[in-house]
Amino acid sequence: MTIPKRYLVTSALPYANGLKHVGHLAGAYIPADIYVRYLRAQKRDVVFVCGSDEHGTAIPIQAKKEGTTPQAIIDKYHEAMKQDFEDLNISFDIYHRTSSPLHHETAQEFFTYLNDRGELEIKETEQYFDVEANSFLADRFIKGTCPNCGSDRAYGDQCENCGRTLSPDELINPVSTLSGKTPIKKKTSHWFLPLGKHEAFLREWILESHKDDWRPTVVGQCRSWIDGGLQSRAVTRDLDWGIQVPLPDANGKVLYVWFDAPIGYISATKQWAIDNKQRIAGGEDGWKPYWYDQDTQLVHFVGKDNIVFHCIIFPVMLKLHGNIIPANVPANEFLNLEGDKMSTSRNWKLEMRDYINDFVKPENGGGQCVDMLRYYLTQIAPETKDSEFTWRGFQDAVNSELVSIFGNFVNRTFVLMHKLCKGKVPPIHNDLLDDIDKQLVIDIASSKDRIEGMLEQCKFRDALFEVIDLARKGNQYMQKREPWIVAKKIDTDPNAQKSIDNTLHLCLQLTANLAVLVNPFLPNTARKMLGMMKVVEKMLDWENAGKIKLLSVGYSLREPQLLFRKIEDEEMKEQVEKLKAGLVKSESEQSKPAAATTNPSNTKMETTAKPVIQFDDFAKIDLKVATILAAEKVEKADKLLKLTVDLGTEQRTIVSGIAMHFQPADIIGKQVVVVANLAPRKMRGIESNGMILLAEDSSGKLHFINPETVIGSGAGVS
Ligand code: MF3
Ligand code: ZN
Repeated sequence: MTIPKRYLVTSALPYANGLKHVGHLAGAYIPADIYVRYLRAQKRDVVFVCGSDEHGTAIPIQAKKEGTTPQAIIDKYHEAMKQDFEDLNISFDIYHRTSSPLHHETAQEFFTYLNDRGELEIKETEQYFDVEANSFLADRFIKGTCPNCGSDRAYGDQCENCGRTLSPDELINPVSTLSGKTPIKKKTSHWFLPLGKHEAFLREWILESHKDDWRPTVVGQCRSWIDGGLQSRAVTRDLDWGIQVPLPDANGKVLYVWFDAPIGYISATKQWAIDNKQRIAGGEDGWKPYWYDQDTQLVHFVGKDNIVFHCIIFPVMLKLHGNIIPANVPANEFLNLEGDKMSTSRNWKLEMRDYINDFVKPENGGGQCVDMLRYYLTQIAPETKDSEFTWRGFQDAVNSELVSIFGNFVNRTFVLMHKLCKGKVPPIHNDLLDDIDKQLVIDIASSKDRIEGMLEQCKFRDALFEVIDLARKGNQYMQKREPWIVAKKIDTDPNAQKSIDNTLHLCLQLTANLAVLVNPFLPNTARKMLGMMKVVEKMLDWENAGKIKLLSVGYSLREPQLLFRKIEDEEMKEQVEKLKAGLVKSESEQSKPAAATTNPSNTKMETTAKPVIQFDDFAKIDLKVATILAAEKVEKADKLLKLTVDLGTEQRTIVSGIAMHFQPADIIGKQVVVVANLAPRKMRGIESNGMILLAEDSSGKLHFINPETVIGSGAGVS
């Protein structure tokens, strides 16, 4: 294998529209981090970049949901995601953001470069337009029925149910999510990247050159894109959130987010060079070799929904712009959670932040819990097919592998060394080494070679298995040697101490090896082991692995520390309950005005099991007293009533899911408490502006919360 001169490793830039879950972590961040830590340990030249993806329609949609501005959204989530990655020891050299001026310039320059050279086409097309909102509709703003699976959870870019990539034209009965109306078609012109022109290049590059060294799932997806016919792709959009198209006649048009975001890898590298100009070759221009030099190995870590962008579209852009193209795109499949697809809309997910809050507290083990998650997510990494996170699996992985195999071996070695060798690295007596000892030495060297080979090929799951397997061999060796039994013969057998020395010498050398080998995967654990061995970081250099001369004879070592704690059944039960309690049953349930009012018996358990909220969360709710002026049934909706309420200062329409509990005529004139600042939401085409509060009695009957005050006065929350 020829070793590349330098590496540029990227992890997909996460959208700054919400917190990311462990599926993202397993897909694009942990594998990249393992790879990079390995390369650094090999003393290779590597830069690891990432950042927040802050454009596209996801951002304004989230801003609308949270009742704030896109800028506020990206600022909030950029910081939050950055913190998550830091807390989980993802060791980016830079975590940048695509809203930075440097990125805007870089992306515009890229567009101009391609456009000036005639590599883009301008085409007039018809696109969906919402007359009421006076706006072209981004793919995400159009909803309809999926042509593939018939689900009504399909958007203009993708079906949420079956995952199929869609174009707005494929949707059956398209509806604008801005107004709830059927959109019209209107003419607009856009710049397109004609991918068809590059088919021969893509075929040769992916389907020939990389057919054996890229993951089969990745090559397979590329083949189906290429064979399916490569359409020209619009690289601009009619949208007001994004990077302006750098042309005078392109008012109101921005670069398509998937055009600008991957260029974010380049601008992040530029920023890294600026930040490190004092210590890197080339100073501020030090980023250039990473993007122009053929000696650079560019590796993109992504999830499978990003394959087409990283294997087809971005490489074509890079080639046209004179850059290098990726050497590998080790994309992962999806990670499911407790038997179901992870989903943000259904709240079926485990956010990185949830794990950090619940486990990574000093009293809970801190850093070791980071490593436990990194361990489990690597062990189940969806490298070749979808895989599944279960809390039971997590517990098993920690308790029966990290604790019982790895942790146990290291702990036993240290305890026995203190007990039988006075806390020092014992000498080795070569004349007494037998086949069992020699086999262990061979195993250490051959494990290292296998692990290295797997890491080079991005087979992290297999590589981690080998590390644990080596620890397992250590335990077996210890079990065969039984130094605690040999110790009983010390007074009678002149070779007893020598045999103990040999056993523990080898076990200690194996421990040191394990630290080096586990370091890319579990950096906290490796460092804890360094502390126990009183050696410096330098020992973790990869070249030290595979040998049995890491620790010098006579060197005194510290007392052992437990590397991993056991995960208790109780903790796992709590997690599973928390997950279930947070689940939003379905979209229709989600759009009911107040879950507890429509289905008391069913939701009771869930509402009591919801996570604790902080006072600040509650204080955001604006409660007002109102009088019901009118009430009528909503057509074709058994459960809904359309209410007109008077808040004293204004009248409002509220759609409430209480039709099964109250007759319209009975409630007119009643005083109720209303959540006045709930974001408006359409139900059956009627915009609801608020929510009526109800309480349930022990028999399950619903009651309005009756104020004694006059209408329009503020109630509670001050
Ligand atoms: N934000 C995208 C996603 O979450 C990924 C962007 S990767 C990049 O799916 F290459 F465009 F940066
Ligand atoms: Zn579908």
